[in-house]
Amino acid sequence: MKNIKDIDIRGKKLLVRVDFNVPLDEQGNITDDIRIRSVLPTLNHALDENAAIIICSHLGRPKGQVKAEFSLAPTAKRLSRLIGKEVGLAPDCLGPEVEALAAALMPGEILLLENLRFHPGEQANDQTFARALAALAEIYINDAFAVAHRAHASVVGVPRFTKGKAAGLLLQREIDYFYRSVSNPIRPLVAIIGGAKVSSKLGALTNLMDRVDKMIIGGAMANTFLKSQGVDVGRSKVEEDLLDTARRLVIKAQEKGVKLYLPVDCIVAPELDAQVETKRVTYQEIPATWMALDIGPASTLLFNEALEDARTIIWNGPMGVFEIDAFARGTMAMVQAVARSHALTIVGGGDTDVAVHRAGEFASISYVSTGGGAFLMLMEGKKLPGVEALAA
Ligand code: 3PG
Repeated sequence: MKNIKDIDIRGKKLLVRVDFNVPLDEQGNITDDIRIRSVLPTLNHALDENAAIIICSHLGRPKGQVKAEFSLAPTAKRLSRLIGKEVGLAPDCLGPEVEALAAALMPGEILLLENLRFHPGEQANDQTFARALAALAEIYINDAFAVAHRAHASVVGVPRFTKGKAAGLLLQREIDYFYRSVSNPIRPLVAIIGGAKVSSKLGALTNLMDRVDKMIIGGAMANTFLKSQGVDVGRSKVEEDLLDTARRLVIKAQEKGVKLYLPVDCIVAPELDAQVETKRVTYQEIPATWMALDIGPASTLLFNEALEDARTIIWNGPMGVFEIDAFARGTMAMVQAVARSHALTIVGGGDTDVAVHRAGEFASISYVSTGGGAFLMLMEGKKLPGVEALAA
């Protein structure tokens, strides 16, 4: 895969696919602009090379219809402020008016196209739609790691029709860090997998079991693992249909010599509520009608010890319901442990980045991925369609 620095873009017209799918509050204000800031190196390089830059992105899931609340207008404004330059917003992403704006775009200028998902052709990977987008520019740059797992027109269709194609610097960085953490790690490599469901992480758990030295499992998915080992977890969330799968994964870990760490204690409550009474118990002591909602301090200690000799750490998924303060301590302690580690630390997906931001430790982590589903797909050992399309 070539990146934007490997090809000649001097004075050329670029179509840069980014992922500006940023969170917005009810007034339409951007609440986290990391995905916009993350593409600045690519855009600045293109400006240094005097390229004319046409940017395209999706926002939300408007299902092929024009919906004002999914307009990219707020991101055009924010990008303009961050890059210190006017960013024009086209009224659509294709059509005669957009073609005229793209044709008139001068080197050093930036135009943002309106939400790609206002057209059904984007998600359907419609070839006519892809051709129309490709016709706007000479070179296609994909800097949208977070959507690289979707085989959509602007991700896999467009690069078939432009004269040149390459990865942006964010996409390159994401792939490089992932390669350093999982494909070619300095060992010991420790994976920390949390979150609610074994089912959504099954592919990642299975793939990582072949690659890691230690695996720490937290979050509600740990309940399924513990129940599979005969522990009575009360009313805690459990995926009953995955008990056999969890049991097999525990056996696989033993066969592979992977040290598997499960929580030994937890914070329990009679229900998931911020105001409710909580207590710390060992996993063997969970009252029949209570549920585990966070890992406890003994688990934190155990997990910290497991991380002590790590040279590489990859983390996806929280240790508990960290959105509620009473159940956030385990996740926050994990952020601190990962941040303090001398290992190469990579965090991605499943709201783990949110926890890192909340703990104010963003700068202490080697790399925080901008991807959710895309990061998970890499953890599953699968190839990303967006990356394949650049290599083809
Ligand atoms: C994301 O936020 O994970 C990407 O932008 C992809 O969005 P999607 O899940 O709506 O395709």
